[in-house]
Amino acid sequence: MDDSREAETNLRGVSVVVLPLPAFGHLNQLLHLARLLSARGVAVHYAGSATHNRQVRDRARGWRPDATIHFHDFPLPPFASPEPDPRAAVKFPAHLQPAFDAAVHLRQPLAALLRSLAAPSRRVVLIHDSAMSFAAALAASLPGVEAFSFHSVSAFAVLLYLWESCGKQLEDLVVGKLNLAVVTNDGCFTDEFLGFLRRQHQMTGADSGRLLNTCRSIEGPFIDLLKEEPRWREQKTFAVGPLNPIVVADDGTSCRHECLEWLDQQPPSSVVYVSFGTTSSLSDEQVAELAAGLQASGQRFIWVLRDADRADIYADEGSSDHTSLDKLLSNYNKAVHRSGRVVRGWAPQLEILAHRSTGGFMSHCGWNSCMESLSMGVPIMAWPIHSDQPRNTLLVTHVLGTGVLVRDWAKRNELTPATAIRDSILRLMIGEEGKEVQRRAKAVGQAVRKAMAEGGSSKADLDAFIAYITS
Ligand code: UDX
Repeated sequence: MDDSREAETNLRGVSVVVLPLPAFGHLNQLLHLARLLSARGVAVHYAGSATHNRQVRDRARGWRPDATIHFHDFPLPPFASPEPDPRAAVKFPAHLQPAFDAAVHLRQPLAALLRSLAAPSRRVVLIHDSAMSFAAALAASLPGVEAFSFHSVSAFAVLLYLWESCGKQLEDLVVGKLNLAVVTNDGCFTDEFLGFLRRQHQMTGADSGRLLNTCRSIEGPFIDLLKEEPRWREQKTFAVGPLNPIVVADDGTSCRHECLEWLDQQPPSSVVYVSFGTTSSLSDEQVAELAAGLQASGQRFIWVLRDADRADIYADEGSSDHTSLDKLLSNYNKAVHRSGRVVRGWAPQLEILAHRSTGGFMSHCGWNSCMESLSMGVPIMAWPIHSDQPRNTLLVTHVLGTGVLVRDWAKRNELTPATAIRDSILRLMIGEEGKEVQRRAKAVGQAVRKAMAEGGSSKADLDAFIAYITS
C-alpha cells in the first residue's frame, strides 16, 4: 500500500473531540486546530455551546474552511464575565470563574458524545483546554477514550506556573536577556491561583500528553525545560503552533472591513495597530491618554476600542451606550481622520497584522496576539494587563527582542500618561532601537513560518501527533 492510501486507511475510525474553555481567546485556538486536523482528513467534533460556537465561527471566519467539522451545540446557562481589573490583577483572575462554573454543565453532554463515538470508533481522542481539567477525569473513566490537554498560553508561562505552583526556586538561568530568577515574586499569581493551577495539573495526570500552541523558534529553551519536568517526561508533548493561519486569502470582496481599505492606501510598515484583546477594557481616563499619545506620536494608526460591556458575548453587538467615551471620541475622530482609524468593537486582526502597511502592534500581549504578531513578523509595543500577559511581555521584550515596553507590569496601578505612550511608539517606529527590534521581528517571523511549513518543527510535531492518534 502506498503512503497516502495507508494514511487514509489509518484515519478511518478515529474521532477527535476538541473541548475549549468558553472564552474567545481559547475558543479560537481550538477552532484553528480543529480546522488543521480536519484538513488532514481527521474526523473532528467541536464541543461547545450554541452561542460560543456561533461566535467563534463568525469571528474566526474565512482563511480555512470548517465545513467538515462537526459542531456540537451543548446547552450552557448564559453567564457574564466581569472585566479583569488591572488594579486587581494580583488576585485570582475572577473573570474566568463564571466560565469555569458554567463549563461544568458541559460534562454530561460531553460524556454522552464520547460514549456515542466510542462504540463505532476505533479510537476516540479528546483534546481539552488545560483549564477544562474535569474533562481529563471524565475521559479517564470512559473505556476507549484517550485525552490530551491543550495549552492556550505560552510554554514560558506554563513553565513558570509549574515551577511556582510546586514552590520551586526559580533558577539562575539566563535565556536571551532574561534571568529567570528575577521573574519570581512579581505579583503575577497569588497563592490561590497557584493552588488552582496545581490542582489542574494533577487532574491531567491521566492524559496521554499535551499539545502546546507554540513553536521551537519562539520558545525552544522553555519547551525543552518543560519536557524535563517529571510528569512531562512520561507523557507525549507536541509543540504544534502557531495555529493561526499566516496567508490571507484576500478575495477582494465587498465584505472587507473598511479599515483594510484605508490600510491599503498607507505606505509599507507605517501603521501602528492598537488592540487589547477580548477581555480587557481601559478606563475612560486611560482611553483619553491613549488617544492623546497616539495623536502626539504623529504616526498612522488603527485603534480597536473595545467597550467594557461587550465583555458579555450575550450582549447585543453594537448596542452599547458609552456617552462619555462617545463624547471624548467625537472630535478626536475628526482631528485624526487623515492619520488614524478608531474601530469600535471588532476588527479583522489577522488581516491587519498580515497587511504590508502594518509596522507595529500595541498589545496587551494575550497569547493569541503574541503568536499572530510573531508569525507575521510584526514587532510589539507591550502593555500587559492581567493573567499570563506580563510573562508573555518578558518573552517578547527580553527573550526574543521583538518588542518594546509601553507600561511596566510593576506600574499596573498607575495611569500610563500620553507621553509614555507616544515615546514607546516613537522608539519602535522611528528610533534606532526600533530598527533593531523590527529586524528581529522579521527574522523571528521568518523562523516561525519555516517551523509551520514542510520540514519545520511545528509541522513535524503536528504530523507526529496525527501519526500517533491514527496509528
Ligand atoms: C485571553 C487572555 O487574556 C490571554 O492572556 C490569554 O493568553 C488567552 O486568552 P484575550 O485577552 O482575548 O485572551 O487576548 P488574545 O489572546 O490576544 O486573543 C484575542 C483574539 O481575538 C486574537 O486571536 C485576535 O486576533 C482576536 N481579535 C481581537 C480580533 O480578531 N479582533 C479584535 O478586534 C480583537
